[in-house]
Amino acid sequence: MNIFNDFIFKVHNFYARKLGKKDLVIIQQLLTKCQSYFKLVAGEAVNSEYSFDLLSKTPPDKTIDDKFLLGIFEDGFELIAILDIIRDFPAPGIWFLGLMLLEPDRRNQGLGHLIYDTLEDWMKREGAKSFRLGVVEQNPNAVKFWRRMGFEIVEKRENVMAGKQSNTVIVMQKILDLTAPEPPSFAGPLHHIELNVTDLDRSGKFWGWLLEKLGYSTHQKSDSGISWKFGHTYVSLTQTDRVNDKLSCSSPGLNHLAFHATSRKHVDEFCELLKKKNVPLLDKQHQLHEVNNDRYSIYFRDPDNITIEIVAPE
Ligand SMILES: CC(C)(COP(=O)(O)OP(=O)(O)OC[C@H]1O[C@@H](n2cnc3c(N)ncnc32)[C@H](O)[C@@H]1OP(=O)(O)O)[C@@H](O)C(=O)NCCC(=O)NCCS
Repeated sequence: MNIFNDFIFKVHNFYARKLGKKDLVIIQQLLTKCQSYFKLVAGEAVNSEYSFDLLSKTPPDKTIDDKFLLGIFEDGFELIAILDIIRDFPAPGIWFLGLMLLEPDRRNQGLGHLIYDTLEDWMKREGAKSFRLGVVEQNPNAVKFWRRMGFEIVEKRENVMAGKQSNTVIVMQKILDLTAPEPPSFAGPLHHIELNVTDLDRSGKFWGWLLEKLGYSTHQKSDSGISWKFGHTYVSLTQTDRVNDKLSCSSPGLNHLAFHATSRKHVDEFCELLKKKNVPLLDKQHQLHEVNNDRYSIYFRDPDNITIEIVAPE
């Protein structure tokens, strides 16, 4: 393979290409130079099995076609960094970084920044809308580096095993597609669904798994709730203890459904229409438990007491 023909992207004299089985030896050589990183994240030295896994392992449901184990070669010859990237994981449009590792004596010279910027441009051209990664809590320099690259912390995952070590992993994300969705110009799409759950941890894992597969990403998180957003719609879970109180809006299950209106005037028009139909409006302060609920909206109930909200754009 001639790297000058086969590189994926290039910046200055650094060339990126996909690594394969024939590169096992140079991968192992680079990893061996980075032992202190592996001791930090896995509590043990790296072995040759790890290089093989790096080349072949993919998350469940992903094939090797979605995996980009990239080597960065100085002048096209010397491997100085490795990037492990999965396309469209955990959902279409989201790309995931498993590892970015520079040779130790190349760090802190601005090279990571340069390589990341070029990588990001390439991923955007390939259709990435957001980029995610996980950093172990005991690697604050990496968190700092990724913040500088524009990433934000979206969640913390406890008890994630790496080698023989259990880590807290800080999940960080950068939105690459900055064309934020405009509020819908028409009424009707779901604005949000709020569900009450009896065990936030258990339900959070289930809904997080499902919604991330559908393209949602974590939106807000607190001790009493969590939400995921996709486009104009979010789904939120709220912890409830009122298991047997079937009539309360705090009972487990659906708390309420919310639909987009086109404007505040549109919400006011709904108010009038509901009055004419003798459907009373609810006092949201007493009926609902949403956090930061300062939207311009109205609440009412259907004949089975299901609560509905109509929301104006912010
Ligand atoms: C994390 C990593 C990829 C960053 O790459 P890097 O080349 O070291 O990053 P940069 O040099 O661009 O930036 C790192 C620091 O160097 C500083 N720096 C940038 N240009 C510099 C220069 N010309 N001279 C000196 N320092 C410089 C930056 O200000 C930055 O400092 P800060 O974080 O305190 O603000 C690299 O350090 C690495 O491989 N670390 C080990 C593995 C790891 O932790 N990976 C992340 C988890 S996936």
